[in-house]
Amino acid sequence: MKTCIIEPVTAFALQTDAIAPDKSISHRSAMFAMLSEGTSYIENFLRAEDTMNTLDIVKHLGATVRDDGTTITITSHGIKESDTVLDCGNSGTGMRLFCGLLASAQGHFILTGDEYLRRRPMKRVTQPLREIGARVDGRHYGNLAPLCIRGASLKAFDYTSTIASAQVKSAMILAALSADGVCTYREPELSRDHTERMLQGMGANLHVNGLITTIEPLKKLLSPLDIRIPADPSSAFFFAVAAAIVPNSKVLIQGVTFNKTRIEAFRIVEKMGAIITYTLKEDKYEPIGDIHVAYAPLHAVVVEENIAWLIDELPALSIAFACAKGTSVVKNAEELRVKESDRIHTVVGNLKACGIEVDEYEDGYCVTGGVLQRAKVKSFGDHRIAMSFIIAGLRCGMEVEDIACINTSFPNFFELLSAITGEQYAN
Ligand code: S3P
Repeated sequence: MKTCIIEPVTAFALQTDAIAPDKSISHRSAMFAMLSEGTSYIENFLRAEDTMNTLDIVKHLGATVRDDGTTITITSHGIKESDTVLDCGNSGTGMRLFCGLLASAQGHFILTGDEYLRRRPMKRVTQPLREIGARVDGRHYGNLAPLCIRGASLKAFDYTSTIASAQVKSAMILAALSADGVCTYREPELSRDHTERMLQGMGANLHVNGLITTIEPLKKLLSPLDIRIPADPSSAFFFAVAAAIVPNSKVLIQGVTFNKTRIEAFRIVEKMGAIITYTLKEDKYEPIGDIHVAYAPLHAVVVEENIAWLIDELPALSIAFACAKGTSVVKNAEELRVKESDRIHTVVGNLKACGIEVDEYEDGYCVTGGVLQRAKVKSFGDHRIAMSFIIAGLRCGMEVEDIACINTSFPNFFELLSAITGEQYAN
């Protein structure tokens, strides 16, 4: 098991255009290319374990994938039955979106994943898919992977989801593209909308009206993608927190998506006192630009709205809470319990180990800012927990165990960390 030992640093300045490419958009670009005619061009695809697993699955499903080291091209030949099990690794996005994509494909497909993914709930997609005719099954009555899918004809639907989940929404939108009529998907709060933007860009007849998405089945294949993937704001946010907690530090992150469903955590750190500026540079599929974050003393905040817009950033945000004056509160975030780890439990436990006063609730936690202390903490196999506590170590020193999971989303994390600390790390 690999461990990272990190020592505290003093003021630093980092400028980078090398934040890992966006994971959500990378998964989608590989999958959506399967629905298009001709060749899709994807530049800056995330070469991390999760998204490379998705790319492998796309190959197993019959697509021709070429990679010249810069651009990945995908040419679809329709979705073909795979002669092997499709392994999504650690990725909930991979597994849930493939359920939607494969629900109507001809053939029999088995989706599996690592020990963490095989414990995560899949009923949120398998149940609504079954209701429209999909033949999807798995352990615990279709809730746990391995899942098996035998493609079937899908009925048009009007589905109201009780959770604000882009994964559920995307799975249902993908299913809707081959349903037998116009479909409507309703969500309780807006979740990230990359699927809608990308499919619209590829020519799908998909209309968004607030929380209601209407999808017409495809009459013909979509246009191929021609996309450069922006930097992932969820990965960028670790370095934003680093600048926000180490006095007199600053970071300039270039080429990151400004999609409002993704940068809410930056807005929260700004509300806490950090000095943040946004410079928009381009707008194709997504608004993209540079974010500058500079240190200023932080004060506590209550986070209870737009939770879906910062769900992945809450572990790193909690490190900022621990360095802020006062008690910060997170509510309405029960979804954290079913991420790569139970992130309410893992954040609370690790912060306690660092000497911070924390209280755990069913749907969140509160953190009273104090003096972060060096500790030995675990990642629980969760990349975002590992990176959050390594960043905390920039302030107080830290030993983080089981860090290999960082490769699922941010393989060059340690290179950027080295640019701050001057140390070399073995990952
Ligand atoms: C994702 C959606 C989010 C997020 C996950 C990626 C996506 O999950 O936590 O890391 O790419 O659609 P939910 O939509 O299930 O909340």
